[in-house]
Amino acid sequence: MTQKLWGGRFTQPTDKFVEEFTASIEFDQRLYRYDIQGSKAYAEMLGRQGIIAVEEADQIITGLNGILEDIEAGQFEFSVALEDIHMNIEARLIERIGTVGGKLHTGRSRNDQVAVDIRLYLRDEIDMILDYLKKLEGSLIQQAEENLDVIMPGFTHLQTAQPLLYSHHLLSYREMIARDSSRLRDLRVRFNVMPLGAGALAGTTFPIDREWLAEQLGFDGVTRNSIDSVSDRDFAIEFCSFAGILMMHLSRLSEELILWSSADFDFIELSDSFCTGSSIMPQKKNPDVPELVRGKTGRVYGNLISLLTLMKSLPLAYNKDMQEDKEPLFDTIDTVKGSLKIFADMIMEMKVKSDNMRIAAARGFSTATDVADYCVRKGLPFRQAHEVVGKTVRYCVETGKDIPELSLAEFQEFSPLIEADIYDFVTLEASVNARKATGGTAREAVERELARLKLT
Ligand code: ARG
Repeated sequence: MTQKLWGGRFTQPTDKFVEEFTASIEFDQRLYRYDIQGSKAYAEMLGRQGIIAVEEADQIITGLNGILEDIEAGQFEFSVALEDIHMNIEARLIERIGTVGGKLHTGRSRNDQVAVDIRLYLRDEIDMILDYLKKLEGSLIQQAEENLDVIMPGFTHLQTAQPLLYSHHLLSYREMIARDSSRLRDLRVRFNVMPLGAGALAGTTFPIDREWLAEQLGFDGVTRNSIDSVSDRDFAIEFCSFAGILMMHLSRLSEELILWSSADFDFIELSDSFCTGSSIMPQKKNPDVPELVRGKTGRVYGNLISLLTLMKSLPLAYNKDMQEDKEPLFDTIDTVKGSLKIFADMIMEMKVKSDNMRIAAARGFSTATDVADYCVRKGLPFRQAHEVVGKTVRYCVETGKDIPELSLAEFQEFSPLIEADIYDFVTLEASVNARKATGGTAREAVERELARLKLT
C-alpha cells in the first residue's frame, strides 16, 4: 500500500476502486509545472520568514527542481494511490530528500495550493490564447487587405440584402475576435491575485509573507478573504464564458465558410489541407475544419454549464466536488487553442472566387435600397420611396429584369423624380461606395479602418 500523506487518522486502507474514483492525477498532472513553481516560491518564503531553515528551503527547492526534470524527461511515475498532482509531487519530494521534504506543506493546504496552481496554469494559457487571437485577427486583416476589390452579396435572413465589400465582411469578424480578446484581458486582471496563505480555509498560524509570494509568482496582489480564496472558481467560469462567446463567433464564421464553399454558393475555396474527401463520393471535398469547429462549440458551451452547475449551491468553503472543475476547464482550453490555431491558418490560405461573389451580389435586387435613397435625395419621404421601389421590384420580378436593366421610361413609370443619373447609383460599386460613414462598407471607409488597425 502506498503511504498516504494523510494516513495518520486512518486504520483501514482505501478501497482500490474508491482510490481510482477519487483520484484526479490522470488529468491534473498537466499542472505539474505550476505546482512546482508555486511550491518553490512557497518554500523560499518559508525560509525567508524563518518558518523553516534557509538550508531546508534550499534542499526542498533542489528536490523540486529534480522532480521537474524527471517529469519533463518522462521519468516520473504518477500514482493513482497518491490521488492528485500535489500529493504525487510532495510524496516524491519526501522520497528524494527525506523528512525535510515534509516541511514544505507547513501552513499550506491543498485547497489553497490547487487554487494557486490553476491560476498560474490558466494565466499562461490565457497569454497563449491571446497570441492565437492576435494571429487570427492578423489573418482576417490580411485577407481583407488583399481582397479590397471583391464585392459580395450581404444577407439578412439569408436573403440577398445589399452589396458588401468582402473585406468589410471579414473585418466584422475581426471586431468580434477583438472583443473576445478584450474580454479575456479583463478576466485575466480579475483573477491574477494570489490565494496561497488561505490554508484550508481560515488562514494560517504561521507568519507567512503573502505579498512577497504574490510578487514572486507574478500576481498583481493577494486575495483578501481566505474563505473566498479556496471557494472561488469564478475565474474558471468566466474563462469558459469567454470561450463560449468566442466559439459562438467561430461557429458563425464556420457556418459561412461551409455555405460559401458549397457548390450552390461557390464563393470560396478552402485549401485542400483543411478539407477531406468522401469514401464513396469521388467529387466531394468536405469543409471538415469549419464543420468541426462549429461542432466543438457544443462541448465548450457544455463545459460552461458543467462548471456553473458544479458550483451551484456549494456551501463554503472547499468541497471535493470542486475537483471536477479541471476537466471542463482543460477541455475548453484545448478546444479553443486548437480551433483558433487552425482557423488562423485556414483563413490565410482561403481563396476567394470573386466573379461568383459579384454575380451573386448583383442578383436579388441588391441595389433596391439605393434607388429608394436616390428618391429620398430627390425629395420623396422615405416611406413613399420604399413603396415606389417595392413596386419597381415587383415589375422586375414579373418581367424578369434586373434594376439596372430598366430603361429610364420604365423607371419613370414608378416615379417621375427618377432621372438619367439613376444609373450612376445602381451599380454594385456605387452602392458599396456610397456607404462612406465610419463603419460603412465603402472602400474608402474600409481602407480607413484598415489603416487605423495598422496603428493599433
Ligand atoms: N485534487 C484536489 C482538487 O483538485 C486538490 C484539493 C484537495 N483538497 C482536499 N481537501 N481534498 O480539488
